This record gives sequence, structure tokens and C-alpha cells, in this order.
Amino acid sequence: MVAKTKETAANNDLTRPPIINNDNGTGESPPFAHPSEKEFARILDFYGLRWVYEPRSFPLRWLEDRVVEMLTPDFYLPDLDLYVELTTMKQSLVTEKNRKLRHFRELYPDSNIKLLYRRDYHRILAKFGFGPLANAEVRGIDRVLFTARQVQRRVKALGKQISQDYEGRQPVLVGVLRGMLCFMADLMREITLPVEVEFMAVSKYGGDEQSAVRLTKDLDQAVTGRDIILVEDVVDSAMTLNYLLGHLKAQRPASLEVCTLLDKRARRLVDVPMRYIGFEVPDEFLVGYGLDFQEKYRNLPFIAVLRPEIKD
Ligand code: PRP
Repeated sequence: MVAKTKETAANNDLTRPPIINNDNGTGESPPFAHPSEKEFARILDFYGLRWVYEPRSFPLRWLEDRVVEMLTPDFYLPDLDLYVELTTMKQSLVTEKNRKLRHFRELYPDSNIKLLYRRDYHRILAKFGFGPLANAEVRGIDRVLFTARQVQRRVKALGKQISQDYEGRQPVLVGVLRGMLCFMADLMREITLPVEVEFMAVSKYGGDEQSAVRLTKDLDQAVTGRDIILVEDVVDSAMTLNYLLGHLKAQRPASLEVCTLLDKRARRLVDVPMRYIGFEVPDEFLVGYGLDFQEKYRNLPFIAVLRPEIKD
């Protein structure tokens, strides 16, 4: 949370062994500097992603041979080889933080770092029904992002592409409930091959320290040796996808690809390869064509941006 300056860096014991959530075995919680860090750690735990809290400090600026500015990212996710810095500062106050991140990237080009702004963090929480945006008042639809016609045209193109790529085979389309329902229904009708359909559902993060993501609905048939296409409506952080792909891979399918209608890349945390992407979309509240906001709007034939009352 706090980018270490010269003064605080002096107090930072670099020899302190890092804490790995799953590995420290002490059952002790690290001394989180901010409640948002604790909540974020719980979300990572939920999705089974290992993390190290405040793993190390990176010198950013030197005066002669003295380090006068450092950055200590809040988390390191070893499985993703990714540092994550959370900031709960107001959007207007993050210029300094951005400067540091830029500087970090110049000095350590081989280290991946992701800055999660307060807005990003609130959106992650809102997805699970927590935080200030969870009960945001919605003023209705702000604008249509993709008309029904544009959506249909894109779905048709995806169906054509899949039909060509899988010629002579019989893929299994695995839909992740529930947002993909319109997309999958249309996509399967644009595929000119025999296809089978299956569905999976996953539990949602409930803010509970003990909980871990689990399947609330598994496949009805074994898919060993089959060609699987996992169908999603939207991929945000990709934590759900990462978990589901791990589960499916364990069944040793002949092939496993992802087809998502929407790719909200700005929110990506886990880098997951996706073969078929309908549209890359901005980081906004999207509804329609299966996507909901508090379970509403799924039945709109187009994809729209909501205008939430965000109180910063
Ligand atoms: C959406 C979507 C994905 C998941 C992606 O589901 O269908 O499954 O979120 O998020 P991630 O990339 O950050 O993990 P949601 O939880 O909104 O449920 P729904 O499909 O029932 O609407």
C-alpha cells in the first residue's frame, strides 16, 4: 500500500522471510497495512492463487550511492510471476503512484507489476456483492456498446471460425453459467458441425476466510480425449477461467480452448490464453445479452454500459 520512501525503507527489514499464504504453516495472518489488502488476500485464497505479502523492496532512486526512494509492492503472486500494488487513493491522487510504477517498469523491465486502483478494487468487491459499489444506484443505460446486429454479426463470425478450425471433429462447448446463456445459444447455431453442450457453475467469493472456489455444477459427462471449447460471456480478472481450466485439464481432454464474447483486458490479473474473442471491451459496468447487474438486464438483446452512481 505504502510506497517506501527513504525513511520508511530504513525500517523495512529485507531479510524478513516472506510470508506465503499457503506455505507458512503458522496460521498467522500477515500484518496487513490496510483492510483492502486483507480482503484482496482472501480473494486470492478463494481462487487458490498463492501470494507473498510485501515480498521485497525495489530501489527506485539513488542520491550518490544512497537509495532515497523504493517501491515495495503489496503482493507477489508466484504462480503468475506478478507483483500487485493496491492503491485505495482517490483516482485524482494517483499521479505520483503512476510515476513510480513507470519508473519501476523502466528499471525492472523483467518484473511484471499491476496497479489496482481504488476503482478496480471496488469493482472486484462489487462483483461479489461487497464494497461501496455493490449497492450502487443505477441511473439506467448510459449507452449501447454493441447493437443486437453487431453482436449477431460477431457471433456468426466466431461460429464460422470454430466450424473451420474443428472441421471433422465434434467439440464439446462447455458454458460457464449463467452469463453465457445468450451467447452460447446463438454460437452453437452458427457452428456447422455436430457439437455437444455441457455446463459448469462455480461458487462465488463470500468474504469468508475459510472458503475456496468450488464447482457448484460439474460436467455431466467425462471429457477425456474430447475437444473442449470453454464458453464465457466475459473474462475480467480471469481467476474464474484459471480455476476452470485447471479443473478441465485434469480430465486430459484432447484439446482445450477458450471462447469468450467479451474480453475486459484492463481488469486482467491472470494471463490466460484465449483463442476466440468476440470483442475487447472497456472496464465499465456492462449488461445485456446474458450479462447482468444484480441479476437484471440479462434479457436485453444488445450490450450496454450502465451509468452507476459512483460515490468516490
Ligand atoms: C462472470 C463471467 C465469468 C466471470 C469472469 O460471471 O460469466 O464467469 O464473471 O470473471 P473473472 O474473470 O474476474 O473471474 P458472474 O460472476 O458475473 O456470474 P454470472 O455469469 O452468473 O452472471
